[in-house]
Amino acid sequence: MSESIEHVLEETRHFDPPAAFAARANLKSRADYDRMYRESIENPEGFWGKVAEEFHWFKKWQRVLNADAAPFYKWFEGGTTNLSYNCLDRHLDGPRKNKAAILWEGEPGDQRTLTYQQLHREVCKAANALKALGVHKGDRVAIYMPMVPELPIAMLACARIGAVHSVIFGGFSVNAIVDRVHDAACKLIITADSGYRRGAVLPLKPVVDEALKQCPTVEKVLVVKRGGNAVTMQAGRDHWWHETVAPASAVCPAEELDAEHPLYILYTSGSTGKPKGILHTTAGYMIGAAVTAKYVFDLQEDDVYWCTADIGWVTGHTYSVYGIFANGTTSVMYEGTPNTPHEGRFWEIIEKYRVNIFYTAPTAIRTFIRWGDEWPNKYDLSSLRLLGSVGEPINPEAWMWYHEVIGKGRCPIVDTWWQTETGSISITTIPGAMPTKPGSAGLPFFGVKVAVVTEEGEAVDAKHSGTLVIQAPWPSMLRTLFGADDRYKEVYWSKFAKQGWYLAGDGAFCDANGYYMIIGRLDDVIKVSGHRLGTMEIESALVSHDLVAEAAVVGYPHDIKGQAICAFVSVPRGITPTEKDKDTLRNHVATQLGPIARPDQIRFTDSLPKTRSGKIMRRLLRDIAAGKETKGDTTTLEDFTVLAKLREHAEG
Ligand code: WT7
Repeated sequence: MSESIEHVLEETRHFDPPAAFAARANLKSRADYDRMYRESIENPEGFWGKVAEEFHWFKKWQRVLNADAAPFYKWFEGGTTNLSYNCLDRHLDGPRKNKAAILWEGEPGDQRTLTYQQLHREVCKAANALKALGVHKGDRVAIYMPMVPELPIAMLACARIGAVHSVIFGGFSVNAIVDRVHDAACKLIITADSGYRRGAVLPLKPVVDEALKQCPTVEKVLVVKRGGNAVTMQAGRDHWWHETVAPASAVCPAEELDAEHPLYILYTSGSTGKPKGILHTTAGYMIGAAVTAKYVFDLQEDDVYWCTADIGWVTGHTYSVYGIFANGTTSVMYEGTPNTPHEGRFWEIIEKYRVNIFYTAPTAIRTFIRWGDEWPNKYDLSSLRLLGSVGEPINPEAWMWYHEVIGKGRCPIVDTWWQTETGSISITTIPGAMPTKPGSAGLPFFGVKVAVVTEEGEAVDAKHSGTLVIQAPWPSMLRTLFGADDRYKEVYWSKFAKQGWYLAGDGAFCDANGYYMIIGRLDDVIKVSGHRLGTMEIESALVSHDLVAEAAVVGYPHDIKGQAICAFVSVPRGITPTEKDKDTLRNHVATQLGPIARPDQIRFTDSLPKTRSGKIMRRLLRDIAAGKETKGDTTTLEDFTVLAKLREHAEG
């Protein structure tokens, strides 16, 4: 995708905020947005300093932004605070004390409600249990759990004592755990015996046991009992949550932490190498998460809010846990899949808990479309007042369906663009203040100075797309890649080093009204069901199998998943691959990385098309993958070599 590509997809439909919505919104008009945005850009220190006053500080900061060692920015230097305190303790003196923080629903239909006071108590106990197991401030704790309340409890407990959590998505497999635990040198891992998924118990502890054979840094394992499946507990190392946390003291004052104290690491895929450990720190992340949640989701005191993302991804970190509890909001949490026991489960949950704000992903929306309108139409969705989308571009058809069938034409939709790295929403519409346009994320959030530029950093006009950059630091930005400062500089700040801009890695287009439309990744990162996967990681997994000499992985368009995975594989000389080998390799990747990384297609080939310098010609492979989607199709090697040769000639 280059700036020379003219943009053809101009969306003309737009939807104004309903008057009644705007009237009671946290931000009521475009003029208010313009004024605040301008101030946030012209005087970021003044703007964020004022916002920060709304939080609890043990000690006030001396300097809002320190850019002396850019791109290693520091926010609220000199200040001390605690995010767990700001999410919990702060709400206990007033009417929020007995308000529900978590409305949890297990997949089998069991329920738990935790008020702010109860959540606070559980977090304090868990924090004391962690301390008793030898976790100190600054230590890393891995969390590999199903979607049960103990997951946010564990995160808030870490934040309370200044331990740095690294949540590993429960759908990942052994190797993904090993890499992540090893990279961060985690001392303890919190897991569960299992979680419920599609009506069955999905074991987790056995996966951890397998991983721990290769994780010498882990000293203790804390295990939540959920599914009741048989697990082996290694004496001295493994401890049951209910035996350790339940008897712990419920008194645990929040640790006074520096504003820049590390809060969590979350691994995400890049174009090259192993996953990157995105590091977020305390105060800036807290403020970014809370303020975006307040304005973008227009949180009101009586709202019931539901983000369907698994907490193993950043969306869950920021918008099921930190940004939501920092606002004292009631958050729904659901353990299972949307089609268990039937395809109306999400709508049933919305009806049951009277959900007002619903935040989900385009891939889910496209799945619901396929399941049919009869499912949402069976339930009372009249409590909904705001809808959100995140993770990948939402196609206008899916947007319109969401608007009409779920929102009944009444609810604004916020299409929120952001990244694990940005920590909080960066581009969106603010629902009471500005119209929405199907397929277009919208305008930058306060303090986010974005632009679409050419490869050389020149501005691109409204007719063309280009590369998306952020031109100034923002509070919830990543601070570095854990243990890899150089890689941090290289990946995000080297392309526009002269200008000091952050490279987002996405292609975008800014229309005549200043609305940003995100087109997709410009690097070798693919988005499968909204989840970010590095093609390189999948290639490494493939190459680790005897059947594979070389592998090249690309994404291709998929109706539901957004992108699907196609792997071109060359086999060692003398081997003639069979159809069965395709399944073997697909399963191999799933075992190594997790089911989400399982290639949709494997195509065997004699050799991979390369440029003279030896670079795999991915664009060509992408075209081939996109053009011939039929299952079982074995791209003829001749065609393939011919194509490759043609390209070589063209380049030569
Ligand atoms: C990438 C970041 C942070 C949310 C969860 C994903 C894509 C995200 C949108 C959107 C178009 C989007 C981008 C981005 N993306 N939201 N609303 N419209 N694209 O976080 O795994 O760090 O992925 O997701 O390509 O760079 P992530």
